[in-house]
Amino acid sequence: MQKFYIETVGCQMNVLDSELVYSGLVQSGLVPATDRRNADIILFNTCSIRQHAEDKIYSALGRLKHWKVLKPYGVLGVIGCMAQKDQNIIFQRAPHVDLVVGPGQLELLPETVHQLLDEKLQRTSEPNLVGRGEESGKKLLVSLKRREHRHAEVAGSFRLFDPVRNPEARLNRFQAMVRIMFGCDKFCTYCIVPSVRGPEQSRPPQEILDEVRRLVGQGVVEITLIGQAVNSYCYKAGGKTVLLSDILYLVSAVEGLRRLCFVTNYPRGMGEDLLWAVRDLPKVAGHLHVPAQSGSDGVLGRMKRNYSATEYRELVNRIYSTIPNASITSDFIVGFCGETDGEFLQTVELVEGSRFRNSFIFKYSERPGTKSAELYSDDVPEPVKKMRNRVLLAIQDKISLEQNRQFIGKTAEILVEGISRQFENGGVQLSGRTSCGRIVVFDAPDDRLTGQFLKLNIYDAAPFTLFGRQPEPVFHGK
Ligand code: SAH
Ligand code: SF4
Ligand code: F3S
Repeated sequence: MQKFYIETVGCQMNVLDSELVYSGLVQSGLVPATDRRNADIILFNTCSIRQHAEDKIYSALGRLKHWKVLKPYGVLGVIGCMAQKDQNIIFQRAPHVDLVVGPGQLELLPETVHQLLDEKLQRTSEPNLVGRGEESGKKLLVSLKRREHRHAEVAGSFRLFDPVRNPEARLNRFQAMVRIMFGCDKFCTYCIVPSVRGPEQSRPPQEILDEVRRLVGQGVVEITLIGQAVNSYCYKAGGKTVLLSDILYLVSAVEGLRRLCFVTNYPRGMGEDLLWAVRDLPKVAGHLHVPAQSGSDGVLGRMKRNYSATEYRELVNRIYSTIPNASITSDFIVGFCGETDGEFLQTVELVEGSRFRNSFIFKYSERPGTKSAELYSDDVPEPVKKMRNRVLLAIQDKISLEQNRQFIGKTAEILVEGISRQFENGGVQLSGRTSCGRIVVFDAPDDRLTGQFLKLNIYDAAPFTLFGRQPEPVFHGK
């Protein structure tokens, strides 16, 4: 029986796609390999968001040349965002790759892998063909390019991947992601996502609900609804419009579900309805990821983010005043084209004033084919980008620590996610998350609490971790 191995990089979309691909391949009769070395099919699920992510994939592919020599019948595939972006370039740069499949064509992956396996088997069993250096058909499955076709045609070519959910394919049995929309239409000038993930398409509410019910039936207690701009979710049918807030109400009502999260929010279009739903629905986590990208109006304008720093501050205030226990996290890009010291300082001010629980900070990486690559020069020197990255990280670390310290002496409820450390005496350190997204670690004799909700007393804090212990059992009476 042939074995497959999937290596995944990138965002949650890719993690979910890999899970669905895994399920599809198992359903088609293939077996997961425990290690890349004993696999017959190796797939890289790739990301194009920054140059560095792509470089790593190309060098990993390069290292697999010898694997192909040892396993001529093996299948090496590149799937995901880089497949859609680079297409035939991948075959040129790595001629031993057999298969390139974009994120909009993953549904066809299992049958394509089987076709390749059959072709290779045929070739190796026909002695007069072996050694002639003939190439069997390479497979390229990608969606239409956005710039070259009409919106509806492009949307149609990004086939919605109807998931077969196999619990074995998930990291664990109690947490799962559910995609509520595909693609992105925001076209921030620096970003490759709209071209590699295609136009925004919202899934029908009933389909989302059915999937959630199925997952909860399999034992899932925490669901994360995902979309590139998840708050742009909008489904119109029969004269009705369903928004993300409606989806939160619908999904929250599923019995057995304990916690509901959603990512990523685009700062525009975070309506009152959404904030009220987060406030009023007890299962919905009070953690909101709302990337600001910059605190400078000049930079935000060049990024085409469609909001000003003042509008972003107003949103942060609105979130804190509506949702009492809200925690906000953000993304920032430093060293974007033309970013001056003054503009960077405005970002520093935004971070200092927003009290984010955490910020993810990235150095600008020019992506061919995006508007910023076309319009502006990537003129902030690398050392300056690095320095700005360090400065912003240090500020955020200090804020994160200050915030986390406020939990000392309090009780926090977490969903235990698993072992974070193994002690020599056989005990373990378990780790879990609060509904505001904070990581809490605590010592336990074994991992039996994994997957359970648990209240802990917090006794110490670091910027990204709270330290807890289980309350002493209280004995009433004699
Ligand atoms: N859809 C989400 C996430 C997009 S990618 C959103 O809109 O927020 C995640 C993060 O990567 C972005 O928020 C941005 O901060 C960063 N990013 C995107 N393109 C980038 C680029 N070309 N260079 C550096 N960072 C980038
Ligand atoms: Fe990229 Fe902007 Fe879309 Fe996010 S909202 S995926 S940053 S284009
Ligand atoms: Fe990367 Fe594609 Fe996600 S480019 S960040 S894996 S949508």
